[in-house]
Amino acid sequence: MVSKGTATLNFSNGHPPVELPIYSGSVGPDVVDIRALGGKAGMFTYDPGFMSTASCSSTITYIDGDKGVLLYRGYPIEQLAQQCDFLEVCYLLLNGELPNAPQKQQFDDTVKRHTMLHEQLVRFYSGFRRDAHPMAVMVGVVGALSAFYHEAMDISDARHREVSAFRLIAKLPTITAMAYKYNQGQPFMYPRNSLNYVENFMHMMFATPCEEYRPNPVLVRALDRILILHADHEQNASTSTVRLAGSSGANPFACISAGIACLWGPAHGGANEACLKMLEEIGDVSRIGQYIKRAKDKDDSFKLMGFGHRVYKNFDPRAKLMRETCHGVLNELGLKDDRLFKLAVELEKIALEDDYFISKKLYPNVDFYSGLIYQAMGFPVAMFPVLFAIPRTSGWLAQWQEMRADAEQKHRLRQAGRGPDGEAQITEDPDHDAPDVRELLPLRKQRVLHRGLV
Ligand code: SDX
Repeated sequence: MVSKGTATLNFSNGHPPVELPIYSGSVGPDVVDIRALGGKAGMFTYDPGFMSTASCSSTITYIDGDKGVLLYRGYPIEQLAQQCDFLEVCYLLLNGELPNAPQKQQFDDTVKRHTMLHEQLVRFYSGFRRDAHPMAVMVGVVGALSAFYHEAMDISDARHREVSAFRLIAKLPTITAMAYKYNQGQPFMYPRNSLNYVENFMHMMFATPCEEYRPNPVLVRALDRILILHADHEQNASTSTVRLAGSSGANPFACISAGIACLWGPAHGGANEACLKMLEEIGDVSRIGQYIKRAKDKDDSFKLMGFGHRVYKNFDPRAKLMRETCHGVLNELGLKDDRLFKLAVELEKIALEDDYFISKKLYPNVDFYSGLIYQAMGFPVAMFPVLFAIPRTSGWLAQWQEMRADAEQKHRLRQAGRGPDGEAQITEDPDHDAPDVRELLPLRKQRVLHRGLV
């Protein structure tokens, strides 16, 4: 990063000013480097939710929330979605450049050689209830991969990191499909290396031993594009989780399992499942108004799922591509008059014309249309967050590898302590100067343990 001078922090409590360096990245806002503040002023910054905190410097993905721009390694998401396939984008995220033809062929072939699961791991499924949520199964089985590759778990070894990345990218579809088959009570369908990545996934999901299954090429291309759109997204909650877990030296399987657990939440990757349930609950265009009203009511916890974003204050560029893809999939399946799709289009139109959503810059996000597409393709609602975890694993791995190679990356978060009884009440003593809170707190906040003799 390039130095852009300094920021001077002046203190009203008499502490001498502190100079902090300002840096600019090649894209995005400048940053004030505050890491010396603790040592220079004995203070921490306080940024609950990290809304103004850059946790790292990264070259992988860039989002301009005001302009609705998303770049993977500098390439606009629109160009990648139109011109590449998902494994090419995986290669780009992991290596920084798109592969040439031989590199792509080798990457695809290597992924194919890692699609099977160890037969002992397949037995894990029988330990789950059939009706277990597939994200619970994913957290368990992906984490359990770390029990199977002792010979390649030295994360200081670049070759071990690489083979772990291939294993995770290759096995996530297999683990996902097995979770679905187990839930359905159907036999597992093993990977077929004659098929490409998405064809293989759809075969493992929807084929049965009883008859030939040929995935619809329009749906295959649509799903491949959806995987590209979900592959990475800067320092979102689940990516930050993977980085934080990785900072302790945890193995990549454990880190990706932690990322899946975080992604599950309805405010994050669980939003696509929550959004479809919301559309089902609204049920009819005539009921949209009452739900818009609820979304605007501060006393009502209801939020319009699939709307709003921590960064985008303009259209999420992925949402536009998802709406196009949704239209194409529903057309291909003869569902263009689908009730829920028409409801979603009307809901989007009404919300985008409403002052509340306009003033708060709430636009549809990547999750608004995805559920409609997945349902039309035959995926059960509970599988929707898993369909987010498959592609995001490539982004998490790229971010994990970047974190491991970054000498600056230490995650040692601190806190603003409030002590056992909440706020630090400082009573002003009229006969004495106000006590220095730093001398007082250790005493005031320490409580004496009185164990009465029983
Ligand atoms: C993803 O981080 C990522 O990059 C995530 C993701 C990725 O690729 O990894 O993009 C994927 O998680 C997309 C988001 C999916 N989640 C949802 O669709 C759930 C519904 N959306 C909200 O929960 C919410 O918009 C968040 C969590 C996504 C963002 O929350 P913020 O940061 O609080 O949103 P904001 O700053 O834009 O909110 C501003 C205001 C707030 O009200 P005030 O406190 O200012 O009065 O708008 C309100 C919010 O309460 N608001 C909503 C709303 N989203 C925000 N009100 C009604 N409906 C909504 N959907």
